Amino acid sequence: MTNTRLKNNSILAVEAHGLVKTFGDNRAVDGVSLSIPTGSICGVLGPNGAGKTTTINMLATLSKPDAGNVKIFGYDVLSETQIVRQLIGLTGQFASIDEDLTALENLMIFGRLYGYSRQDARRIGNELLAEFGLSDVASRSLSKFSGGMRRRLDLAVSLISQPPLIFLDEPTTGLDPRTRTQMWQTIRKLVKGGSTVLLTTQYLDEADQLADNIVVIDKGRVVANDTPEGLKRSVGSSSLRLTVKDADHTANAAQIIRGILKAKVHLAEASELIAPMNNPDKLTDVLTSLKDAGIALSGVSILQPTLDEVFFALTGESSQAKKEEN
Ligand SMILES: Nc1ncnc2c1ncn2[C@@H]1O[C@H](COP(=O)(O)OP(=O)(O)OP(=O)(O)O)[C@@H](O)[C@H]1O
Ligand SMILES: [Mg+2]
Repeated sequence: MTNTRLKNNSILAVEAHGLVKTFGDNRAVDGVSLSIPTGSICGVLGPNGAGKTTTINMLATLSKPDAGNVKIFGYDVLSETQIVRQLIGLTGQFASIDEDLTALENLMIFGRLYGYSRQDARRIGNELLAEFGLSDVASRSLSKFSGGMRRRLDLAVSLISQPPLIFLDEPTTGLDPRTRTQMWQTIRKLVKGGSTVLLTTQYLDEADQLADNIVVIDKGRVVANDTPEGLKRSVGSSSLRLTVKDADHTANAAQIIRGILKAKVHLAEASELIAPMNNPDKLTDVLTSLKDAGIALSGVSILQPTLDEVFFALTGESSQAKKEEN
């Protein structure tokens, strides 16, 4: 359906220039520009109150920009609103038609809405419930669903319609780790199926896992726009964290690591060492040398920069401080 609607194939899924939205004297969105190539995932990262939801609302035709313009697959959100609405999906809004109906009944209504026969709608509904681990609660009414269950059902609905452009506003906030991973898989599946995804998140690791490009928003402005790798590189390096089994080996281990990584080794605890590591290839060298020296390890991990470090590097303030400001 999408290709026939596109004005041309190479067009961007989202092209926004200079978006502004003011609430009273608060410039919630203060000149945001972003473009998202068709078929990619764009992660919009920012602390509470940065303007993520306000930006999505303008892109998704739910709120009118005070300035700037947006094209979705080449269609203008203001003058071609109806076409744009047929090309986008916004989760969180429409998952429940009726709170008293069951999860399966709700999914079936969507299936019917998208033209499936009753039988097919039931089959697809059941398949989706199984995929999202909701089979056990298929006949529970939505009014008795937990927040996490609801979130999963929201995303299940987007799989039925598979819109060309999907906005996901913090799709995994508050979900347990297993459900979070499952959501990530589903989002990748949506993209494999041909959709373009814009998701907002407060977690750097989520943007890192999913996004082709990350747009960092702070106080209504874009402060960075880069690939996950580029962003992390600009922020600083990853760190290597090693725990030696025998604390007596700590000093020796530190010397070996220093020699290989050519970096300062920080002693976090009696047997725990942390060192910056720009080149992951060096990990094998470190491990082999420690083994050759007879130093046994009880733990190895690579620490990625956190969202807090990203913000500190980009704005000189921590995101925690921003939360407190808001
Ligand atoms: N309808 C509204 N009326 C008045 N102010 C608003 C409205 N919606 C948002 N704001 C303000 O605009 C700013 C940006 O809010 P927005 O919801 O876009 O942030 P966000 O990045 O989505 O934050 P969060 O991570 O908490 O969801 C905030 O200062 C907020 O208080
Ligand atoms: Mg928000």
